[in-house]
Amino acid sequence: MVGAAWGTPGGRRRRRRKKKKEEEEEGSPLLEQDGEMAGEQRLRETRAELQSSEFWDSSRRIILKSLHRHLVAVAAAAKETSGPAAGEAFVLALENLQLTPPPAEPTLDSSSQLGADPDGQAICLLCVCYGLGNFSSCVKARYQLAFLILLLEALKIPKKRCYVFDPVFSALEIEVLNNLGVNVLLENEEGKWPTQEPTIFYMIHCGKALYNNLLWRNWSVEALSRMVIIGNSFRGIEERVLSKTFQKDYSYIAKVLMASEEEALPSYPQYMDIFNDTAIHCFPWGKLRGLPQETWTFQEEPVYPEDDQLEIIRKKQ
Ligand SMILES: C[S@@+](CC[C@H](N)C(=O)[O-])C[C@H]1O[C@@H](n2cnc3c(N)ncnc32)[C@H](O)[C@@H]1O
Repeated sequence: MVGAAWGTPGGRRRRRRKKKKEEEEEGSPLLEQDGEMAGEQRLRETRAELQSSEFWDSSRRIILKSLHRHLVAVAAAAKETSGPAAGEAFVLALENLQLTPPPAEPTLDSSSQLGADPDGQAICLLCVCYGLGNFSSCVKARYQLAFLILLLEALKIPKKRCYVFDPVFSALEIEVLNNLGVNVLLENEEGKWPTQEPTIFYMIHCGKALYNNLLWRNWSVEALSRMVIIGNSFRGIEERVLSKTFQKDYSYIAKVLMASEEEALPSYPQYMDIFNDTAIHCFPWGKLRGLPQETWTFQEEPVYPEDDQLEIIRKKQ
């Protein structure tokens, strides 16, 4: 999309005027360049604002505390069951997570060294982000992207270890993301990412089917215990959705609830719309092991009813 409007929190009238101007100038390559630069500038401002907020400070602490507790438990469990080497990735990820101030923005060269051990082996977390939305025109999505950038820094995850996908991204948005240094996935996986190493999924306000698909794809004690999801509260989903529908259509969310630990992000009035109903979810190994055996026997791929309520864009056949 050429010349996407980088939305501002300020008035509709200004946005309408800007949109009209953009529509008039549609097709100008210069405008696309302007859009990208203005957009990146707007994003930097949003990031700076968020970084200095109490909301970010408090969210960062909650996320680090949850992750730390979770990785300690996972490392201990992996060591116990499979020997010291198995727990190594988690221990190293954990050491990487010390509560130190976020480092200065790394250059492309130094970022490739971040989180690498002396042999160059990657030891830090991976991050996958689904459902960010059109951050060039939607202020909420822009704040969520700024939060993602701060999160990568706080967790010392190099940008090249972050994968982002939303089927609605415009060409301009893909370019902005590429310039940021994160990977933009080109294929719609419908959220079915197979987790092979400690991974944090950032999925703010995504459709229920996306969370359910992700859980289905990783339906084992080992895979689930490697992942952490920042997204809509699963307990909130359970409360809002009719019990019968929840158990039938979103059965993987329903089943994992018994073994999940979630902690809500703090609520601050000015970020209410942007991060409402958001929590960090961990699936502790010990709790997963405690689930009845039949929990793991049913592994059918989810199929959803074709109704308007489904908030997921399917892969093109
Ligand atoms: C309710 S919107 C949330 C957008 C934004 N995060 C917000 O809070 O305003 C859900 C988002 O999920 C995205 N989405 C739908 N299907 C998807 C898929 N298969 N993979 C990744 N994202 C998807 C939509 O395009 C949309 O941007």
